[in-house]
Amino acid sequence: MNKFVVQGKVSLRGEVEISGAKNAAVAILPAAMLVDGICRIENVPKISDVVNIVEIMNSMGAAVNWEGSTLIVDCRKINSYEVSYEHAKKLRASYYFMGALLGRCGKSIVALPGGCNLGGRPIDQHEKVFEALGATVTTEGGSVHCHAPSLNCAHIYFDMVSVGATINAMLAACKAKGLTILENVAKEPHVVDVANFLNSMGASVSGAGTNVIKIRGVARLGGGSYAIIPDQIEAGTYMVAAAATRGDVLVKNVIPKHMECISGKLREMGVGVEEYDDSIRVFVDQEAVLRRAQVKTAPYPGFPTDMQPQMAALMVTVEGTSRITENIWGSRFRYTEELKRMGAKITVEGKSAMIEGGAPLTGAPLHACDLRAGAALIIAACVAEGTSYIEEIEFVERGYENVVQKFNALGAKIQKIDE
Ligand code: EPU
Repeated sequence: MNKFVVQGKVSLRGEVEISGAKNAAVAILPAAMLVDGICRIENVPKISDVVNIVEIMNSMGAAVNWEGSTLIVDCRKINSYEVSYEHAKKLRASYYFMGALLGRCGKSIVALPGGCNLGGRPIDQHEKVFEALGATVTTEGGSVHCHAPSLNCAHIYFDMVSVGATINAMLAACKAKGLTILENVAKEPHVVDVANFLNSMGASVSGAGTNVIKIRGVARLGGGSYAIIPDQIEAGTYMVAAAATRGDVLVKNVIPKHMECISGKLREMGVGVEEYDDSIRVFVDQEAVLRRAQVKTAPYPGFPTDMQPQMAALMVTVEGTSRITENIWGSRFRYTEELKRMGAKITVEGKSAMIEGGAPLTGAPLHACDLRAGAALIIAACVAEGTSYIEEIEFVERGYENVVQKFNALGAKIQKIDE
């Protein structure tokens, strides 16, 4: 079993380069299954979620090859429309094969996906889309079977804002006859990135980034080149790590606009944030005393749920009572038990966590219960006095490229050991 051994009491300083966005990459790669030509996809993070998606695509007859951080994808010889449980269980994003294969083959059989355990993760909105586009959808033997002799356009109003269902709808509707209209959609930067990728391959998707997306179906998507946007959450993680360790970090290769909800919250807490064209400097002045804060997670442009555990690690270092309200996932506070083992004072009640900050943290044996929880524990371990041992780091490696190298280049003392 691999572990991170983290020596604490460091102040992170220096520069870090952000990789391509995980949640864009894991959607854009399945989207490439719709393309009848060669796609050159640049700025792809080499993380285990992406490696698993590539493995699924290769197993279905696609030719997907790395050239540095670029993937050359040729899906012209796809010979299957089925994703097995062995593959699907490894990551949540395997559900994007439903929309992509339905668009491409008119049918798909995809085992129900795995991914981080954040409470119930229904896919009713995805199924509603496929049915609206004319597919029959059934669940048999643990797999979702979709079948549509022909895909027709539809007008769909989502019951709640869902990143996955919005993207799956764009994938399937790209090849449906006529104009599909999606209302109450997700506006996350990675949703816009998928739309831009599809358009660069010949699709006709408009309105991504607003509440309504319109997709005019096309007969064929040709090949082309596309570069994935920088990862908003990876960037936010290093920004918060800089603040929690009272450091000074230049976070490079970011889109500052995507970071506004995080930059704004850090400024509110007294952290220095300077924005440049494609980088952000985050620093804490020596005499600065950070202020407690309240965070409520919400779909973009609100505060991202995928940043709340890292934000909790910062709040633990700030005197006074901070509060986090989690509005997206029913169960995303399991990491607080780990922070409490380090000396943090946190009370969870329903959707809220009250954090009594300022108590000293000490290193401890810790368990990364999901991807972002793991990131929060790394931050807390960098702050704490002494040594922490973080288990289940596979979760962290699902979503953070070269995490040990990047943190250590900023002055962290993290060692990965294999026991
Ligand atoms: N929901 C439904 N029915 C559905 C779909 C969603 O009820 O059919 C609910 C969910 O239970 C949740 C809310 O709607 O309460 C939002 O879920 P969403 O569909 O937006 O989440 P997702 O697409 O499964 C993606 C990211 C998550 C991120 C969420 C929210 C990927 C692969 N995953 O999940 O990322 O937390 O959006 O922004 O893009 C992570 O990267 O650590 C991660 C968990």
